Amino acid sequence: MSDVVACVHRREYPEEPQAIFLNAASWGLLPRSTAEAAADLTLRRNRERGFEEEELGAIQRRCRGAVASLLNVDPDEIALAPNTSFGVNLAAALVGRGEVGRVLVSQGEFPANVLPWKALEARGFGLEIVPTGVDGLPDEREIVRRLDGPDVRALAVSAVQYASGYYADLPALGDACRQRGVLFCVDAIQALGAAPIDARAIHADVLAAGGQKWLCAPWGSGFAYIRRELHERFDPPMVSWLGLEGATRFGEAARYDLTWLPDARKFELATLGLQDYLGLARSVEIFLEMGVAQVRRHIQDLHEPVLAWLDAHPEVRLVTPRDPERRAGILSFVPGSVEAVAAELRARGVVCGVRNGAIRLAPHFYNTRAEMEEVASILETLH
Ligand SMILES: Cc1ncc(COP(=O)(O)O)c(C=O)c1O
Repeated sequence: MSDVVACVHRREYPEEPQAIFLNAASWGLLPRSTAEAAADLTLRRNRERGFEEEELGAIQRRCRGAVASLLNVDPDEIALAPNTSFGVNLAAALVGRGEVGRVLVSQGEFPANVLPWKALEARGFGLEIVPTGVDGLPDEREIVRRLDGPDVRALAVSAVQYASGYYADLPALGDACRQRGVLFCVDAIQALGAAPIDARAIHADVLAAGGQKWLCAPWGSGFAYIRRELHERFDPPMVSWLGLEGATRFGEAARYDLTWLPDARKFELATLGLQDYLGLARSVEIFLEMGVAQVRRHIQDLHEPVLAWLDAHPEVRLVTPRDPERRAGILSFVPGSVEAVAAELRARGVVCGVRNGAIRLAPHFYNTRAEMEEVASILETLH
């Protein structure tokens, strides 16, 4: 564990863990200062005479700023949003306003990243689900081949697949989309916090994530990155009074002027759960402090004891790619009896998931190598 990761770990998770929590692919553990910041804002509503409007606006600016640094984009390209689905739906609405055509997704994507696109079928669009390869992982060569059709409007991918943990080759897919004028939409919820993403470098047009998983932020906090060039081309599918130029000039509010703000704030949907966005800001700042590249190295080190156990048991199928380039935080494998092994892990205090017929381990920066060695020895006794 690097010094900074170890130091943040001690500071933010001072209590002795009650279980080996390997479930960041469902939700991450909240850092202490995140939980405190969100709770403190809530309690101060009553304790003090009230907030200055300015303080509440500053929370949102702080949050957009932190997220923008995480993604290497500008804060005015970030819209705060309650979940991943918001950004995916926004991207689908944008595509739906354009010329009818096809949208590509890989087989095996999480429904949140498929159904908003499927809903476009009612408007004459085609949803093309590209079959996975023989290994069950997204077939990126085939995806790029299919991008060549004349009427492909968008490619929607998860940066990291929720079940297999496959970490997409985002720069290659983004570049292929850019060359062909295809909208590149990234569902980044299973990656951000576990693996670095530079949204500009991968040529993302829209990138969406909730904060609750690998970013260790409150439920109901998230965001969408919308590339600046799209702001003018596209007005929001839902009207937010706070997305308009005159929003905070309350004296003129009843003029009902529909002039949009000139940046991604126009896509946000009115009043948000500010305590949760303060929490998101704090959590993202913690990741910036550690550096997500360091976190990723730590997670890959955490995978090692279980990978070593898998090496000794070739009959247990590793679903996640062995190649560290194609792996972020999730490590999935199929032992003989998945349900029995999962139940036994749970009984012995290991919190993990089962997805698509595989055990899904999702360790994060607050886990230790010793915990993963314990998991490997539990697996050995079960096999
Ligand atoms: C790939 C992926 N996208 C989206 C979600 C969740 O979507 P939302 O944040 O809209 O609830 C999940 C949660 O499991 C996921 O794994």
